[in-house]
Amino acid sequence: MSRFPSFLIMFLVCMPAFAGEPGYYGYGEPATPAQIAGWDIDVRPDGKGLPPGSGSVEDGEWLYEAQCAECHGSFGEGVGRYPVLAGGQGTLTDMRPHKTVGSFWPYASTLWDYIHRAMPFTRPESLEDDEVYAVTAYVLYLNDLVDDDFVLTQDNLAAIEMPNQANFFRDDRPDTRNTRCMKDCKDPDAISVLSIVEPPAELATAAAAANMAAGPAAGEGIYTQACALCHETGIGGAPARGDRGAWKTRIDQGLDVMVRHAIEGFQGDAGMMPPKGGFMNLSDQEVTGAVEYLVGESQ
Ligand code: HEC
Ligand code: HEC
Repeated sequence: MSRFPSFLIMFLVCMPAFAGEPGYYGYGEPATPAQIAGWDIDVRPDGKGLPPGSGSVEDGEWLYEAQCAECHGSFGEGVGRYPVLAGGQGTLTDMRPHKTVGSFWPYASTLWDYIHRAMPFTRPESLEDDEVYAVTAYVLYLNDLVDDDFVLTQDNLAAIEMPNQANFFRDDRPDTRNTRCMKDCKDPDAISVLSIVEPPAELATAAAAANMAAGPAAGEGIYTQACALCHETGIGGAPARGDRGAWKTRIDQGLDVMVRHAIEGFQGDAGMMPPKGGFMNLSDQEVTGAVEYLVGESQ
């Protein structure tokens, strides 16, 4: 049961007083097992939740070339700013670790679940179960985790050991072992911070440099981080950076309209611009900066 949008979870959490009183509002009906099954698609590390099925590395290669390589590259090297899916082993302790399925992910089940749930990016949940098995097998193969004649099944997926699995463990720092206090708790004023964690010197220098770069120039950084994904290549109908033809009539509408469309999202004739490009953590000001940068580059 892991598909509820967070606002729904908030809603459910906010009404515990009514739990156990079915029919309180006088509407709605219990979900049927079939309805629940439709939502309940998560797969766990022990393989629980996997549907019956199988797929080979060989079949996966075809599917991957047809449906994944345009973004993730034929060898999982990533095209443009799309995620790299292979390699990176041994880099996790570097200043700039390459976190990929092979170098970072702890469980193969996550890979199956993620592809099943979210990929291909523009057509999530369009793959048949056997296709998900095949393409998952192929991504494992790209990471040298299985051989080229491997067939992934419901029964052998949980047994695959990912190289970085052992580095995931329960957080056992002292504060997480404290018992939760529900009553007669410590007076908050009596609690004081005895030490703080200092970031490594090189990170602090990098952060200072980034702060210096803030201001109008920050629009470019936001663009690279949140907008380039679509606007650099023009994927899905996004007007590409620097394509004057595609921007002319948009610019004629005025900056305010474009900023509003970028913040609130916008369905036009060309495609769908998600609110803030899908990066809801950005402030309106940051998005405005990115629009100014993008427009400045395109007129
Ligand atoms: C149109 C481009 C596109 C296509 C096609 C596409 N993906 Fe992706 N993929 C993405 C993007 C973008 C992300 C990152 C999404 C996010 O972080 O929310 C992603 C993330 C992933 C990840 C997680 C990577 C990580 O380390 O976080 C996997 C695995 C993946 N895709 C597999 C696939 C597979 C398998 C296919 C083909 C069935 C596929 N993708 C097709 C764009 C694409
Ligand atoms: C997932 C793809 C995607 C991402 C990410 C994205 N955009 Fe867009 N954007 C689009 C598409 C598609 C359109 C064209 C919609 C249409 O006109 O049909 C668009 C249009 C726009 C427009 C023109 C609006 C208008 O009124 O014509 C602006 C400005 C814009 N985007 C800014 C941004 C900014 C800033 C970001 C990053 C914060 C961003 N976009 C991220 C897909 C994206």
